[in-house]
Amino acid sequence: MRLYSLLSLATIVAVTNTSPTGHRVMVVHESVAAVPSGFAHAGSVAPDQEITLRIALTQSDIAGLQAKTYAVSDPANALYGRHLTVDEARIWMIDDFFYVLTPNAPATVSDVSAWLSENEITATSVSPAGDLLEIKLTVSKANTLLGTQFSAFTHIASGKSVIRTLSYSVPVSLQSHIQFVHPTIAFVPPLSLPSVNAVKFKRDTVVEERVEPTSATVPASCAAVVNPACIETIYNFPTDIANSSAQNTLGVAGYIDQYANFADLALFLKNLRLELVGSNFTVSEVDNGQNDQTSAGVEADLDVEMVVSLAGGVPTTFISVGDDNADDVDGFIDIVNFIIATPIETRPTVLTTSYGFNEPNLPISLAVGICNAYMQLGAIGISVLFASGDGGVSGVQATECTNFVPTAPGGCPFITSVGGSTGVPPQVAASLSGGGFSNYFPTPDYQAADVAAYITSIGDEYAGLYNASGRGFPDVAMQALNVEIAWMDDFWLVGGTSCASPMFAAMIALVNDRLIAAGRPVLGFLNPFLYSPAGRPAFNDVTSGNNPGCGTNGFPALHGWDPVTGLGTPDFNLLLTAVGL
Ligand SMILES: *[C@@H]1O[C@H](CO)[C@@H](O)[C@H](O)[C@H]1NC(C)=O
Ligand SMILES: *[C@@H]1O[C@H](CO)[C@@H](O)[C@H](O)[C@H]1NC(C)=O
Ligand SMILES: *[C@@H]1O[C@H](CO)[C@@H](O)[C@H](O)[C@H]1NC(C)=O
Repeated sequence: MRLYSLLSLATIVAVTNTSPTGHRVMVVHESVAAVPSGFAHAGSVAPDQEITLRIALTQSDIAGLQAKTYAVSDPANALYGRHLTVDEARIWMIDDFFYVLTPNAPATVSDVSAWLSENEITATSVSPAGDLLEIKLTVSKANTLLGTQFSAFTHIASGKSVIRTLSYSVPVSLQSHIQFVHPTIAFVPPLSLPSVNAVKFKRDTVVEERVEPTSATVPASCAAVVNPACIETIYNFPTDIANSSAQNTLGVAGYIDQYANFADLALFLKNLRLELVGSNFTVSEVDNGQNDQTSAGVEADLDVEMVVSLAGGVPTTFISVGDDNADDVDGFIDIVNFIIATPIETRPTVLTTSYGFNEPNLPISLAVGICNAYMQLGAIGISVLFASGDGGVSGVQATECTNFVPTAPGGCPFITSVGGSTGVPPQVAASLSGGGFSNYFPTPDYQAADVAAYITSIGDEYAGLYNASGRGFPDVAMQALNVEIAWMDDFWLVGGTSCASPMFAAMIALVNDRLIAAGRPVLGFLNPFLYSPAGRPAFNDVTSGNNPGCGTNGFPALHGWDPVTGLGTPDFNLLLTAVGL
């Protein structure tokens, strides 16, 4: 029935163009009941003001891609490790052949394009799979297209002004083809710098106490000052340097004008990882991201220093995401599309991100859209790691709250969420460790038994404050307090799960290095392996500490998985054993 839809697109467009727009019956697609707290209405917008909107199309078979992603990521599946190529993954996204060959398949692209042409709007595809269209138009045209009234709003805390609406419509006939239009009803507070609490540290006074990476036992000084040698000893990082090619590149995401500084990395290595002096990173730029070496970002320096000092010999690229997108959320999707478009020879196999949102601040449509983007990375063999947040059960940062606040994309089942631990072994939970349960994503199979066991063990405590059927996070934990970094030509101690995510990324990249050397596929989407009978023994369970927030003590770390430290802290040697090396 749809055989003609792509073969004779030109004719169809011409025909539909003659039908007046008014013939389209519109239906409300998404709405919010009121202006979300934290934002204030700030009047009308000039009708001729230009805005950029993105239309996220319904993929041809996202459930199919999801099944495939789990299959190639589950050690118990015969397809384990057989990651898809970008072209193979695309078949499940927006696939021309799918539409041509499948009777009754929705003609998503052509139908939506026809609607836009009727309104004299030209769309640009901004994702390799073609599931994301971008349109630039005036506010008055957007109001007509979406049967709405865009206005100005102010984000009160930052003073930042945005153009949004409380409700928008799409033609009834197209509703099933469109996931969401953004930015419309999403009132997302601007991304903020993770609270790393940098405290200046007098390195000179402890130089003589420098820990040698070869120590068999962890020196007591590592409780107060955590340097690369401490981290190597605690988690059994290898001290020999990897010989990775660009095919084992580790990607570090940078946002909000956080620039990683070459001189700070050199200073760090010279003082704390002498064997790696001369190691460096490259910079990739997305959405007009910059590489300003006169403005060192504390978060960016921390991330790059952890990765380069711990994953010695693994090529590192700092991906600087600029603000040339409608809001920070689009940057989270653009980095995925950038990576997918990168040739496999230099494409990162691990991506670590130390920034995030509170889940309730994202509309569910957008949270699902971001999560599906990360799923695509998993499908093609990329491990996607995120810091779990620094506010315990209150989200990315300590805030006032009644119900516990999950972080995003922490609740996405296709990312690996890294929480915080502290001290010399046996480690305890870092109290800031973001953890809890998503309200948007159900508990995935790989952790269902763990989540059920944990909820049984805490009984009624906090019932109603968290979602007992949600995806639990974090998945793992690493050092998140008293971590030494170099920044602005000086030494500092910092904290936060921002420290832990790059540490775990470094460890995974080193496992990938050994796997590649053995002629095996890289790990890709990690969670089904981490939670499997083979993967679990690679973790040291963390059984004490908790993550306070919202006026409570937060969740307790208990025997087994918990929403504070996940499965526990990883051990490199045990991970090698777990993958059979
Ligand atoms: C990298 O190569 C060097 C020199 O051949 C070797 O000493 C080192 O062990 C190799 N590293 C790994 C992780 O295999
Ligand atoms: C690292 O790379 C940058 C950019 O190429 C360069 O300016 C800097 O000198 C390099 N640092 C080292 C230690 O080689
Ligand atoms: C709890 O999570 C489930 C599964 O994701 C979801 O269907 C439900 O709406 C959530 N409940 C609340 C109150 O958000």
